[in-house]
Amino acid sequence: MGGIDRALELIRSSRRVVVMTGAGVSAESGVPTFRDDLTGYWSMFDPNDLATPEAFDRDPATVSRWYDERRQRVLSCRPNPGHVALAAWEEAVVGAGGSFVLLTQNVDRLHQRAGSRHVVELHGSLLSWRCTRTGKVREDLPLPLPHYPMESEAGGLYRPGVVWFGEMLPESAVARAEAAVASCDLVVSIGTSALVYPAAGYVEWAVAQGVSSLEVNRDPTPISDLVDVSLRGLAGEILPRLGAGWRAGTG
Ligand code: OAD
Repeated sequence: MGGIDRALELIRSSRRVVVMTGAGVSAESGVPTFRDDLTGYWSMFDPNDLATPEAFDRDPATVSRWYDERRQRVLSCRPNPGHVALAAWEEAVVGAGGSFVLLTQNVDRLHQRAGSRHVVELHGSLLSWRCTRTGKVREDLPLPLPHYPMESEAGGLYRPGVVWFGEMLPESAVARAEAAVASCDLVVSIGTSALVYPAAGYVEWAVAQGVSSLEVNRDPTPISDLVDVSLRGLAGEILPRLGAGWRAGTG
C-alpha cells in the first residue's frame, strides 16, 4: 500500500490530531526557510548576529530593522494550498466532534490567515513587538516602524515578539502543546527539519507514547524513520491530496 493510502488510513481513524509545522509549510508562499542552502535565512547571516537577546542588546537598530523587513515580507505573502488544506482538515475534525491543535514553529501567521483557529505559536510572531520594560505586547505598530529601534511609551524599546536562541518558549504555548500531545491519537510533522527543541521533542514524545505518526517533508529528517508513514514531497502538493482523499473517505 502506497504511503498516501497508509497516511489516509491513519488520518481517517484519528479524532484527536496534533500537527507540528515548520518553515517548509510556508516555503511555497515565498517565506525563506532557515536551513535550506540557497534561500534559507541562516545562509545569509550568522543567527548569532541577529537572532539572540545579546544581538539586540548590542545593536537594537539592526535587529529591529531585520525583523521589521521580515514582518513586511510575510504580510506580502499569501497562504499556500498546504495552509488551506490544514485549515479545512481542522474544521472537519472539530466539526465531527474531534480535537485539532496546530503547533507551529513559524512566526509568519500564515496558518491563521488561511483560517486555522487552534494554532499554538511556539516561537512567537513577527507581527508582535514587546516592550523591554513592561513586557507589554503590541501587534499594531506602524509598518514600517518609524525608526530603528522604536521606543515604547514606557521608555523602553519595542523588541521583536519572537523566541530567540537561548530564550524560553512562552509558558502558555508550552502548556497548550503539552496538553495536546498528551491526549492526541495522531501526530503529524510537516515541513520541519526536526532539529530544534523543544518543538522537535513534542513529536518524538507522541511517537514514544505509541500514537500514530505521520511526516510530510521535502527531505528526510531525524524523525523520518521514527514515524509510521513519512511522505517525501512538498506540503502544498501533498496536503491537498491527503485532504481530498480523506474527505472522500469520511462518513
Ligand atoms: P528548517 O529550515 O530547519 O527546515 C525546513 C524543512 O522543511 C526542511 O526539512 C525542508 O526539507 C522542508 N521543506 C522545505 N520546503 C518544503 C516544502 N515546500 N514542503 C515540505 N517540506 C519542505 O525550518 P524549521 O524546521 O522550521 O527557530 O526550523 C525550526 C526552527 O529553527 C525555526 O522555528 C527557528 C530556527 O531556529 C527559532 O527562530 C526559535
